[in-house]
Amino acid sequence: MTEAELHTLYKGVYMPSLLHPPQSLKYYEEFSFRPDDVIIATYPKSGTTWMQEIVPLIMSGGDPASVETLPNWDRVPWLEEQQACVLNLDQRPSPRMFSTHYQYNMMPPSFFEVKPKVIYIMRNPKDVFTSSFHYHGITNFLVKPGPQSEFLHKFLDGKVMFGSWFDHVKSWLNAEDKEHIMYISYEELIMDLKDSVVRISQFLEKSLDAEVIEKIADRCLFKNMKQNKMSNYSLVPREFMDQTKSEFLRKGIAGDWKNQLTGTEAEYFDAVYKDKMKDVKYKFVWD
Ligand code: A3P
Repeated sequence: MTEAELHTLYKGVYMPSLLHPPQSLKYYEEFSFRPDDVIIATYPKSGTTWMQEIVPLIMSGGDPASVETLPNWDRVPWLEEQQACVLNLDQRPSPRMFSTHYQYNMMPPSFFEVKPKVIYIMRNPKDVFTSSFHYHGITNFLVKPGPQSEFLHKFLDGKVMFGSWFDHVKSWLNAEDKEHIMYISYEELIMDLKDSVVRISQFLEKSLDAEVIEKIADRCLFKNMKQNKMSNYSLVPREFMDQTKSEFLRKGIAGDWKNQLTGTEAEYFDAVYKDKMKDVKYKFVWD
């Protein structure tokens, strides 16, 4: 398929057309949220899958049944994805859990009326780029990344799935009503997973004892999640995602960009970052 066929331009951002046909986008536009829904919002490659493991474990009080039996895309489905339409989400019991890669301004009307809880995860964009570069190389539904320097320009210009990282992060940081949004970074999860689980459970108003917190954090360690076939994408056929080239749960570290970007590329990245983020007051862990 050509680049034009693999991309749909929707609300100004590129979406992978094979995963998000027009009927899915319409379904999401008309979706009705409930006040007790929990939404995981991310720019792709920022820790979505990790949070799709953490949040259900917190919500179930540590019961691993859902993470052991349901693939992450059923457990915490993406509302913009094709399969959301067929999962009968309106019949799921509360509290429901969803994922989205939408920028804040792309969210449907019901979201702004109901204001469900959102956990927004951010990650050092150089690591997002690195993870994304590898991911684009293993999937058949994304445009092939091409040479690294070419993909870098596309990434920094926002000509990639779900648009610009800068626009995405700024849109969520500038959300009008921040009371219902928790901001957390991939790097904080890396630095102290147990403390992050505590903070997330407080935000979700789930009181868990120390032993349960410990167990959740342990299950969500990279090495343990890699073994969970409901979370490591091994259920996806190789023609869609070829993990013999690079695994979905690839390295799971902070700072891998240092092994990926050349000195010149990193400098260029920093210059673009400085310019695009100059008005942002938020203190990112990686700054
Ligand atoms: P890397 O490619 O840098 O390894 P997403 O789920 O948003 O697509 O993000 C995928 C990235 O999150 C991958 O990064 C993946 O390895 C990482 N990840 C997933 N689960 C993780 C975990 N338990 N610990 C650390 N990183 C994790």
